[in-house]
Formats: sequence, C-alpha cells, structure tokens
Amino acid sequence: MTQRPSPDVISEYKEFVAWDAPTRWFHWINALAVLALIATGLVILNDDALGLSAGGKILLKSIHASFGYVMAINLLWRFIWAFYGDRYTGWRGILPGGSGYLTSLRAYVLSFLSGEPQQFVGHNPLARIGISVLFLLLLIQLTTGLVIAGTDLFWPPFGHWFAQWVAAPGVDPTSVQPGASDLIDKASYQAMRAFRAPFVQVHEFAFYALAVVITLHIIAVVLTELHEGGSITSAMFTGRKILTRKPPDAP
Ligand code: HEM
Repeated sequence: MTQRPSPDVISEYKEFVAWDAPTRWFHWINALAVLALIATGLVILNDDALGLSAGGKILLKSIHASFGYVMAINLLWRFIWAFYGDRYTGWRGILPGGSGYLTSLRAYVLSFLSGEPQQFVGHNPLARIGISVLFLLLLIQLTTGLVIAGTDLFWPPFGHWFAQWVAAPGVDPTSVQPGASDLIDKASYQAMRAFRAPFVQVHEFAFYALAVVITLHIIAVVLTELHEGGSITSAMFTGRKILTRKPPDAP
C-alpha cells in the first residue's frame, strides 16, 4: 500500500527569511560577550583560591565589567529593536503569550512527540519560553552587574553616587579609587558594602541559573536541528531557514 504524503509536506525545500541582520549581530556579540563574562566571572569566584593580589582582583573586575558594558549595550539595543522588528524578531515573536499561544504550544509539543515536528520560521512556541527566560536572566545580570561595577570600581552609571556615599569628609568624590582606604569614610563604606551584598548574591545566583539555561539552549538547538532540520544554526549567520514542511508562522 502506498502512503499518501501529509498535506503539510512541501515537495521541495523552501527558503524563508527568519532573522534580520540586527538580530544576527546581536546574537553573536551576545554569545561572545557572555562567554567572556562567564570565564572572567569564574575567575572572580575563585580569586582567593587562585591567590590573586588586591590589584589583580581590581584588574580582573575591570576586565569583567568592560565585557559587561559590551553585553549591556548590545542587550539594551536588542530590547529596543524588538519594538521595530518583524513577526519573528519583534516582541510578539519572542514573548510567550498572545492569542492562540497555548493552542500553538500544545500543537507543537504533540507534533514533536509524534515524530513529525512542526517547523517554524521564527522561534517555536517552546523556544519562546526559553528565549524569554534567557533575556530575563541577562537583564538581571545587567542590572546587578552595573550596580556592583558602581560599588567596586566607581564606574558609571552608578559609580559617582557610590563615591559620594563613601568619600571621607573633605575628599572630592571623583578622586575616590577602588582600594584607596585613606580617601573613604569607614562607617559609610561598611554601610555601602551592606547595601551591595544582596546585589552580589543575586548576580551569583543568576550566573548559575544562566549556566543551566544556556546549556539547555544549546541542547535544544542541537535537538531541533537533528529532529526538524531547518538549518537553524546556519540561519543565525545567513538569516535564512530551509524548511520541508509548511511553517505555521509563515506570512
Ligand atoms: C551574562 C552576564 C554575566 C555573567 C555570567 C556574570 C558573572 C559573574 C560572576 C560569576 C561573578 C562572581 C560573583 C561573586 O564573586 O560572587 C561576577 C562578578 C562581577 N560582575 Fe558579573 N556577570 C555578568 C554580567 C556583568 C555585567 C553586565 C557587569 C557590569 C557591567 C558585571 C560586573 C561584575 C562585577 C563588578 C563583579 C565583581 C563582584 C565581586 O567582587 O564579587 N557583570 N560576575
């Protein structure tokens, strides 16, 4: 008995434009910056065990925070671009929710389990949850990181405010440097460190959460590529996906 092809199967491969250039640039700049932040963050976590000097620790935090600015500017730019992006790169293609979202999530999961997964031009409904969690964790790292860069290095945008807080009476806050104990008021410095502590805790916790979510992200990409094809990894370079089934989110 001959099997009739499913009506959703396109007889030829078809190419779809998925990711615009700003989204692709964002993705790879973010991936490289986060990799550098994880590597330098891991050294900061183990700085005492590695026997780093006080000066070495400040240099290390400066390198880490410099990568942090790259990541922060890139991420904020992506959030702005999501207001201008199309159906795949804008907020409606990223955030889970909106009319019919739960139905499409159910349909996608069922199709995945059946062994004939639906192919999406943009993010599939499950991926939208993953990408949103990633964005949220990156936003938490960005916010807490900028506060700690202010408390530890007196760097913008909050550094000037912290320098004013801890400067000893009569000392110009702009001259306060990390490690310059003669320029600071000890009691104010202790109060500032107490204020800083929860931000460092959240920064560290979000780091572990990010490590888990980034691993899941990579596993999901590999599984999708293996089960659904669609050249989804090269699509982040070329912008184009090659699909064999009719995508539910095609224009
Ligand atoms: C994906 C993004 C990021 C990751 C994975 C990350 C990771 C880490 C880790 C693991 C630590 C050590 C925490 C600890 O000692 O308890 C750390 C510390 C630090 N991070 Fe980040 N970070 C990120 C983003 C940022 C950003 C955007 C900035 C600021 C521009 C920043 C500034 C700092 C500073 C100043 C410290 C030193 C805090 C300390 O002395 O413990 N980070 N980061």
